[in-house]
Amino acid sequence: MTILITGGCGYIGSHMCWALKDQGRAFVVLDNLSTGFAQQIPNETPLVIGDIGDQALVAQVIEEHGIEAIIHFAGSIIVPESVTDPLSYYHNNTVKSRSLIENAVKAKLKAFIFSSTAAVYGNPQEATEPLSEDVQLEPISPYGSSKLMTEIMLHDAGLAYGLRYAALRYFNVAGADPKGRTGQSTPEATHLIKVTNQVALGQRDSLSIFGNDYPTPDGTCIRDYIHVSDLVQAHALALDALLKGENSFIANAGYGRGYSVLDVVKAVKEQSGQTFKTHMVPRRDGDPAQLVANSSRLRSVTGWTPVHNDLNQIVKDALNWERHLIEQSKDD
Ligand SMILES: NC(=O)c1ccc[n+]([C@@H]2O[C@H](COP(=O)([O-])OP(=O)(O)OC[C@H]3O[C@@H](n4cnc5c(N)ncnc54)[C@H](O)[C@@H]3O)[C@@H](O)[C@H]2O)c1
Repeated sequence: MTILITGGCGYIGSHMCWALKDQGRAFVVLDNLSTGFAQQIPNETPLVIGDIGDQALVAQVIEEHGIEAIIHFAGSIIVPESVTDPLSYYHNNTVKSRSLIENAVKAKLKAFIFSSTAAVYGNPQEATEPLSEDVQLEPISPYGSSKLMTEIMLHDAGLAYGLRYAALRYFNVAGADPKGRTGQSTPEATHLIKVTNQVALGQRDSLSIFGNDYPTPDGTCIRDYIHVSDLVQAHALALDALLKGENSFIANAGYGRGYSVLDVVKAVKEQSGQTFKTHMVPRRDGDPAQLVANSSRLRSVTGWTPVHNDLNQIVKDALNWERHLIEQSKDD
């Protein structure tokens, strides 16, 4: 069967492409290249440059390539930008997802896998335990709301038309392909591990740490960093589960273990062999002390067993990709 990967030229989507290629599976990428890079997917990949909101184009791609499932990564992902420009986030993430879901329903596709996010939980200030999927959903940004709305549409489309879907709520995605074939390339990315690596490699001046007075062991925020290669494997398994008849499901994608900002700084110093400055600055609005996934549902429904769940490996793979980007920029 052939799978349509939307946003396949992006950070996570490009890892999905390499994983599917490694597994010998057939896929086609649809990407408008707004933030993605065509050179980060395998050379022979059929790439359609276009928009997920273009229903005629999507219908044509489904028909021509005999698409039977969609893995939907395409979207806009910068939380602060969603606050200043909410309507463009609702358009790209919600309105265009609705359009794509309609394509999937009309073509009677067998499965639809959706990139959701821990941002649907909002700011669970009191959370001391890993979060299960059943806690209250209170997104605090248009980005989180735009993803929650898509989850709701999938739920309703599942009930009404029998669309089978899985929505994976990613926690903090990090790392890069261990074989160095792709990685996070967005220059203005705000992900902590990427930014800290850039500081270690002299690409940024210093690292600001937002708050050291949280109720955590070292006072800095704790997050659940999931290696992007484990994350894309979860998508492949979720798809297989649906194809084997599993009911639609929503599941957290994280390891269930958190690391503090200072743990990340220490790992980057160790892996890079560099020392660098950090600055303690006041807390940012909306950062919960701890966000850690209870991922038992993902494990039990799909049989997912992470293999890259080691902070040092995540940092090392991400550092290698950052070095590759530096070399590449010298050639340009
Ligand atoms: N990176 C994270 O930490 C994280 C966390 C939670 C959820 N997610 C979700 O995972 C998905 C992928 O994120 P990413 O980090 O790879 O982002 P990314 O920006 O690297 O990739 C998004 C891709 O989608 C493409 N795209 C965007 N809008 C499109 C449209 N209308 N039509 C066609 N292509 C379009 C972009 O060109 C890009 O290639 C997103 O939906 C994001 O919300 C990411």
